[in-house]
Amino acid sequence: MNKTSTTSSSIAQYPVSKQPVGASVGIPPRRVKFDFSKDTVPHYFFANSAFKSTFILAMSATFPEGELLFVKSVKQFRDRISDPKLKAEIAGFIGQEALHSQAHLAFDTAAEQHGFSLKKLERIHGDSMKFTWKLFSPKARLAFTAGVEHLTAVLTELLLSDESILESMSPEVRHLFLWHSLEETKYKAVAYDVYQTIGGSYRTRVLMMVYGVIGFLGTSAIFQARLLAEDPRPFNLRDYVSGFNFLFGRKGKFLPMFPMLLDYFRPNFHPNQHNTDALLAKWREDLFGLEGLLTPQFPQGQSVH
Ligand SMILES: [Fe+2]
Ligand SMILES: [Fe+2]
Repeated sequence: MNKTSTTSSSIAQYPVSKQPVGASVGIPPRRVKFDFSKDTVPHYFFANSAFKSTFILAMSATFPEGELLFVKSVKQFRDRISDPKLKAEIAGFIGQEALHSQAHLAFDTAAEQHGFSLKKLERIHGDSMKFTWKLFSPKARLAFTAGVEHLTAVLTELLLSDESILESMSPEVRHLFLWHSLEETKYKAVAYDVYQTIGGSYRTRVLMMVYGVIGFLGTSAIFQARLLAEDPRPFNLRDYVSGFNFLFGRKGKFLPMFPMLLDYFRPNFHPNQHNTDALLAKWREDLFGLEGLLTPQFPQGQSVH
């Protein structure tokens, strides 16, 4: 199992009065001050493309309620975990996911000001999360979380590996996705480890991953179609085709996600088999180092570790 380096020399060292539990295992709650408004989140914030911008918005609409379900599903089993390291990782996971949920709510609210029905989509997704919660057993809910966390880890690994993916995005939105990607990559194994510790079966693990991945991708596609239908610009086939090719075409940026997702079906799979240590070290420095992109938006007194 790979361990992540936390020794980067120029990471800002802020005084921390009371160290959050998650910080002891490198998963501190980081309250980054984002400035989401109609100006910092332009109508077409991604390459001036309606297709690419709505692709991101559709995903973002699923995050606030989705991440709250992830938190609840892990909390169900917190008392059954005795390993102090995993307990601290759970605390870190809960703190960071809750902050992601809040940040995406604020981002969605800014996008709504341009006429996109993000709040309506958030409510629809909230209902579908309630349905999932009621339909499945506590263990299956956790398997759902572990499966979707794998999908998230695959997407965020691709985002952090290829800077050209986000380079044409408006700065504040790009920073949101870089911050979120860094943190998801760091704790990608937490829900999986809790699931294994409580004796979750292979069958439920893979079935709930299939349910979660199909549900997430299907919901995102439907949401994107709804958002595109609201687009005030005239229909632009060229934008749609080039946006789709950029993401999923023959040289699409997200095409490698499909074989990476299949790794999850190996009985001896573990999320840390995808080595992301170097990526984490690079991006922690780039975002929170002394000259970091997010350092000015990161109030002193918090731990970056
Ligand atoms: Fe998250
Ligand atoms: Fe997550």
